[in-house]
Amino acid sequence: MEDQMESGTALYTKKTILAPMVRAGRTPLRILSLDYGADLCYTEEIVDHKLLSCERILNDAVGTIDYKNGDDIVLRIAPEERGRCVLQIGTNNGESAARVAKFVQTDVAAIDVNMGCPKPFSVHAGMGAALLRQTDKIKDILTSLVQAAEIPVSCKIRVLDDPSDTLNLVREIEKCGVAALGVHGRRREERNPDKCRIEEIREVARTVTSIPIITNGVSGEIDCYEDIEKWRVQTGASSVMLARKALATPSIFRREGVLEKDKDIEAFLDKACKYDESYTMTKYVVQRILGADQEYDPRGRKTVCAGSVLEICRAWGKEQVYEEWHRDRQRRCCKRKARVTE
Ligand code: FNR
Repeated sequence: MEDQMESGTALYTKKTILAPMVRAGRTPLRILSLDYGADLCYTEEIVDHKLLSCERILNDAVGTIDYKNGDDIVLRIAPEERGRCVLQIGTNNGESAARVAKFVQTDVAAIDVNMGCPKPFSVHAGMGAALLRQTDKIKDILTSLVQAAEIPVSCKIRVLDDPSDTLNLVREIEKCGVAALGVHGRRREERNPDKCRIEEIREVARTVTSIPIITNGVSGEIDCYEDIEKWRVQTGASSVMLARKALATPSIFRREGVLEKDKDIEAFLDKACKYDESYTMTKYVVQRILGADQEYDPRGRKTVCAGSVLEICRAWGKEQVYEEWHRDRQRRCCKRKARVTE
C-alpha cells in the first residue's frame, strides 16, 4: 500500500492536467492535450454501474482498449495515454467503486472520484457534490477504493460553504490513503463565472501536506503556459487542472505558445479521425473551440450544419485524413478476419 501511495503521489506532483469534462474529455482531446504538453489527462466522469455493464475489448482496428456497452463506447484508452490517463468515476458506493477499480486498473494510471458535480442528475443519485455532506460515505468510498486498487486513487471536491468545514473534510480525506486531492475553488451553488476562492484553496494546501493538492477553477486570464505556472504558485498547490480553457484552446498546454483556433481544430480532427470518435462528440468539441466564431467563420457555419464526422472534416479540409484512417481501420479489420479464419 505504501508503494502505491508513493508512486501515486509522484504521478500527481507538479503536473499540468486536463480536467475531467463530460462529452469532451474523451480519447481525441486527451491525446491532443498530452501531445501539446499536458502531463496528465482525466477522462470524462463515468458512472460506476455504466462502466460495470461494459465488456472490455481489444480493438484491433483502432488500436485501443474499449469498454463497450452494445455499440456505445463508454471508455476508449489509447496506447499513447498509458500511464498518463486518470479515470474519473461517479459513485455513491464503496463496493461498486472497488469493482470498477479491479475492472479497469490494467488500462488506466489512476482512479479519481468526482465529489464536486452539482448537476441534478449527479446529486439526485447521491453522487458528485451530494457526497460533500456525507463524510462517512466519502471515507467508505475512498478506503474501499484504496484497498481494492493497485493503482493510485484521488478525488476532486468543491470547497464547502464554511471554510472550516472544508478543512475538516480534507483532513479526513487525507487519512483515507488517497494519492492526491483536487480542489475546485467554488462552492456547490456557485458556477463557473463566479470567482474562484483562491484563499480557500491555499488554506487546503497549507493544511494537507502529505499529498499533492491539485488546484482547479480558473479566475482571471490564463493566456499562455506561463500563466498556468503563475496560477499554481498563487494557489500554493502542487498541480494545476484546467477545464474550460483547455476545451476552448487545447494548445494552452504548449510551452511554445497557443495556436490559432483553426490549427487547434485541425489538430483535434486528426485525433478524432484516428480514434474514430463519434459525430456528436466531435462536433461538440469543434464548436467549443470555435466559440462565437461558429457564426462568423464560414467553416464554423459549415460545422454547425454538418451531419457527420466526414462533413465536419470537409469543412476544415481534413476529408483526406478522415478517409485514410477509415481505410486503415478497414484494412486492419480484414487482416484480423483473415487471421481468425486461417
Ligand atoms: C466539467 N466539469 C466536470 N467536473 C468533473 O469533476 N467531472 C466531469 O465530468 C466534469 N464535466 C465537465 C464538463 C464541461 C464541459 C465543463 C466545462 C466542466 C467541471 C470541471 O472539471 C472544472 O471543475 C470546472 O470547469 C472549473 O475549472 P475551469 O473550467 O475553471 O478550468
